[in-house]
Amino acid sequence: MNIAVKKGDLHKDECDLLVLGAWEGAQEPRGAAKAADRALGGLLSVSMADEEFAGKAAETISLHTHGKLGAERLLLVGLGPKKGFGAEDLRRAFAAAVRHADKVNATEIRCELAAEGLSAAEAAQALTEGALLADYAYLAWKPQEARRRKKRGIVTLTIVENDPAKIRAIEKGIAIGEVWSRATIYARDLVNEPGQTMTPAHLREHAERLAKRNRNIRLKVLDREACARLGMGCFLAVAAGSDAEPYFLHLTYSPDKPHAAGKTDRKIALIGKGVTFDSGGLSLKPSEGMETMKGDMAGAAAVLGVFSALDDLKPGVEVHGLIAACENMPSGKAMRVGDVVASMDGKSVEILNTDAEGRLALADSLAYAHKKIKPDMALDIATLTGACMSALGPDVAGLMGTDRRQLEKIEKAAREAGEQVWRLPLPEDYASFIKGDHSDLRNTSRVRWGGAITAALFLREFAAGMPWAHLDIAGPFFAEREVNAYTRKGGTGFGVRLLLNFLKSL
Ligand code: BES
Ligand code: MN
Ligand code: ZN
Repeated sequence: MNIAVKKGDLHKDECDLLVLGAWEGAQEPRGAAKAADRALGGLLSVSMADEEFAGKAAETISLHTHGKLGAERLLLVGLGPKKGFGAEDLRRAFAAAVRHADKVNATEIRCELAAEGLSAAEAAQALTEGALLADYAYLAWKPQEARRRKKRGIVTLTIVENDPAKIRAIEKGIAIGEVWSRATIYARDLVNEPGQTMTPAHLREHAERLAKRNRNIRLKVLDREACARLGMGCFLAVAAGSDAEPYFLHLTYSPDKPHAAGKTDRKIALIGKGVTFDSGGLSLKPSEGMETMKGDMAGAAAVLGVFSALDDLKPGVEVHGLIAACENMPSGKAMRVGDVVASMDGKSVEILNTDAEGRLALADSLAYAHKKIKPDMALDIATLTGACMSALGPDVAGLMGTDRRQLEKIEKAAREAGEQVWRLPLPEDYASFIKGDHSDLRNTSRVRWGGAITAALFLREFAAGMPWAHLDIAGPFFAEREVNAYTRKGGTGFGVRLLLNFLKSL
């Protein structure tokens, strides 16, 4: 889909579909819709009354114009209440509009931009994200549907703006929205790809491609032997049961124009859980529990998504991306329950459940960050615990960490991006739940409850005093239902826009 802005006449320009917004509670058409209603001889107001259209968020009403307008069809889309209107309302409204356009086979769409309470650039970015993300489908295994779309051709959505002073800002917003959506879609594709091809080596190839395409990005790859030399016993224990070779990936983005010296937040490490398939290992999951586990590398996908956009974002900070890519499988070589392994920072960990593998791989990633990078902040993103889903449900990520200021920034970045996160506490008393009997730590808690928190406390042991934040995305990495018009079933790309927005705020 192509998104553009131009000066023009909303009512005269020819197109397949004209999209106009309507505030909740407005009894009759206003603004551009009022003019359209007049041209249609009052048909729009009649339909609004007939269908009890209330302008609720993403509610739609559509009419054929029978040649009375330049557009063949008119779509009125609800924006929700004017008070409290924000970027997320725009995303959802235009996602609904794009879904409607697809249904009626419209390829030339015109619209106006509602920007109440937002800058023109912010509004254009949100509109673009809603439209592009709604247009996404994973079609690698549906060639017929892919062909239908190809035949339909490229859909063009043109924002018609009267105020020439706003055109530049809108263009800028569209450009950012395109980059952030492309990065999100990239992460969705990675998550949706089955474990049969989405292997640790495949994640490595994706990292290689990113480094090759961008001269500001370098990649260091550590194979099994190199990881063993560094003492990554936890990570390698997870990889042990699989025939797939594990790789530790270290991406580095160096800015052309770094922030002035002396500023904090100059070096940030993003750590993504990269388990390409989680069977549970010898502590085997039931089959239903594995249905989404091809996506247990969604944290890694989010990190790769972020790196795919750094060229455009151009943050003034050094960004490190760490991915311990491996597969968790049962076999004669697999880690056992009761095994004790050593992490890169020398802590011993007793394995009491081989399905608590994410924290093992992340432990060595955090230890590596501390030893080799010493970032001003380490932020991990991981499909870590079913317990986090029990606590917060399917759409909300758990947020935990050690640095109040950074956590607040992450919350703000998430809110603006339309991605929901919620803080969970890290009670000091719970730290005893993961202390080992004959080892420093155990990989599961002694207490049944609070699994998202005890997993985070386990990770904190390896942050070694670095300001650290942790996003548990076990819920929102995958949509098991249609969440909204731009988040359909499957991988969601959760975290990409949140992290890009966070980096932008630094
Ligand atoms: N990858 C899973 C967590 C998960 C579950 C993510 C469902 C998304 C949806 C993780 O490796 C895991 O298996 N965690 C265990 C931990 C337990 C053994 C302490 C869990 O949550 O059951
Ligand atoms: Mn697991
Ligand atoms: Zn897992």
